[in-house]
Amino acid sequence: MYYSDEVIDQVRSANDIVDVIGQSVSLKRGGSNYIGLCPFHNEKTPSFSVSRSKQMYYCFGCHKGGNVITFVEEYNNMNFTEAMQYLADRAGIRLPEREITAAERRSQTERSELREVNKLAGMYYYYSLRSPAGKAGMEYLTGRGLTESTMKSFALGYAPKAPSDGLYRFLKSKDVSDDLLRRSGLMNVDERRGTMYDKFWNRVIFPILDTSDRIIGFGGRVMGDGKPKYLNSPETKIFDKSRNLYALNIARKTRENYLILCEGYMDVISMHQAGFTNATASLGTSLTPGHCALLARYTKNVILSYDSDQAGVNAALRAIPMLRKAGVTPKILDLKPYKDPDEFIKALGPDAMQERLKNAGNALLFEIAAAKREYDLNDPDEKTRFFERAAGMIAELDTEMERQNYIDAVSREYMVEKRMVQELVNRRLVIGASGLGLQQPRPQSGQTGRGAEQTTRITQDENEYPEEYDPQSGYDPDDPFAYYGIGQGADFYEDEMTGEMYQAPPTASRSNRLGNVKQQGDTISRQLLLNYITQYPSVYSTVKQYVSSEDYGEKDTLTARAAELIYDQMEQNGKVDEAAVLSRFPDAADQTVIAGLFHTLDPASSTAEREKAVRETLLKVYMAAPDASSPDLKTAVERKNREAELRKLKISLA
Ligand code: GTP
Ligand code: MN
Repeated sequence: MYYSDEVIDQVRSANDIVDVIGQSVSLKRGGSNYIGLCPFHNEKTPSFSVSRSKQMYYCFGCHKGGNVITFVEEYNNMNFTEAMQYLADRAGIRLPEREITAAERRSQTERSELREVNKLAGMYYYYSLRSPAGKAGMEYLTGRGLTESTMKSFALGYAPKAPSDGLYRFLKSKDVSDDLLRRSGLMNVDERRGTMYDKFWNRVIFPILDTSDRIIGFGGRVMGDGKPKYLNSPETKIFDKSRNLYALNIARKTRENYLILCEGYMDVISMHQAGFTNATASLGTSLTPGHCALLARYTKNVILSYDSDQAGVNAALRAIPMLRKAGVTPKILDLKPYKDPDEFIKALGPDAMQERLKNAGNALLFEIAAAKREYDLNDPDEKTRFFERAAGMIAELDTEMERQNYIDAVSREYMVEKRMVQELVNRRLVIGASGLGLQQPRPQSGQTGRGAEQTTRITQDENEYPEEYDPQSGYDPDDPFAYYGIGQGADFYEDEMTGEMYQAPPTASRSNRLGNVKQQGDTISRQLLLNYITQYPSVYSTVKQYVSSEDYGEKDTLTARAAELIYDQMEQNGKVDEAAVLSRFPDAADQTVIAGLFHTLDPASSTAEREKAVRETLLKVYMAAPDASSPDLKTAVERKNREAELRKLKISLA
């Protein structure tokens, strides 16, 4: 950006793309192009193509592409300027200095200084661990079962007990300025006295490397039960905790087609030592969208292997939707009865781990199982609520195929008839498409207050929050204050582990949540019946004997208006002209609702199942009709009889 087009062209044409990519990817000639295994995602058959004539690359698998500069940026995790420098060096071109702005130069210098200090510190810790002063650290790590070669590949180190200012003195001997030390995050600064002392003291040290193998920060663990268990470097110009992952520099090179995401440093190290070198973890913070985007650059498949305790389950429940949004398919590793991967491997060994990885379960079933715990399945109402919730989750899947698979899985797992789950999912689909605004019970509902199990981390990054507007709790994603509950007596508390501020998420009160359900349920049934009439015109003559166009709720509501039009068209043409109905609702919001009425549902279920669904929906609409609760005894009796008749009614869709 700070280079002229001529300079950029010069650098680009001096670096042939096939040569540059050929250094890191093995390319074969295939027709006019070169073909190889894509370095940006894992694959077994080559879909990465490089064209010499066009000087471009493109992957048909992950759709990454560009020119030689983009490749260097992507592959080496460099920014544009760094990539230009790299390619200029490679071709022996001297880049004009003055084209970099002063600010950029300062920032570049600062970054490289910080990298240098971290590298020196890493060396200091590394050698300390292997010196007599490091005995305690070495005993601790060996005691946890780590081999010398593992310690080496993770560059593990030790911050000795004595001297307590060892790092400070070492860095001073290397002429590092106090100002740089202050910015490095390696020192605690006593502002009053103007003094500095080593941040890490008497801890084993876990250097944190970026994907280019440069040390950008450290984690330090107490050897024993002291608190805090881990100290981490604060964020600096080079250490962005939400855009780096532990051991990703190693994990990214895996030949497996998935990455394993653990909670802790020790878990990652144990996994690697056991041969699972595709394990990674976040850096003492919860997972962010930045992490997910980073993961997505390397793989579309992530196995979550969080701790099996409640905190770990909650963390996984937060991670799953975030990963999905980044285009990654999450699976869940079952570690039970062990707490974390480290314990699991110690107890059962690598083969058992391999087996569990192979059987890692689908995240959606994990979410449904987690939701189940909020309901008392012995209570019929709660049971219905649970299945409605599960159906809502299934309905969010994109394809009919996926939905069918989960309908199967859920009905098997919870032993209900498939047809019933199917029907609930269909209702959700109508609602979803219609934008009726019937919210699903929030996935994070639960108790509130200090110590609540379900918490949402507060950071700058809005992407971390659930996005749906929840009319009953008043949560509006566009109004951050509403989310934080500011002015509503928000309940903040500090996380003991990380010192970060947490807040219990807003929740709809339970009674509130159930309050409108009946009314909304009626609307769903009515819309569903209109959907069936449109899809299967042959049922109309039966339907109208029980339900007239006035039975679709309050006059002039959207559903009632749609019913009137649809009944009219059935009378006149024997079928529904969907476009014509739609055009009667000029308002965009109305149109989405109406379009939802015409969504094709459940093509996969059998005719008998569909007939049953139509009958049940018809019965519901009949029972919800405005005059259903007539005080007149004769009418009431008559309706009861009709109801009984309806229950046995033969609907034919053949
Ligand atoms: P071991 O308990 O030694 O096996 O380590 P672990 O990595 O499994 O730790 P744990 O499961 O307790 O925590 C998971 C991760 O959370 C750690 O690796 C750290 O990144 C982070 N963490 C844990 N405790 C603290 C803490 O006290 N402060 C901070 N900032 N982070 C912590
Ligand atoms: Mn752990």
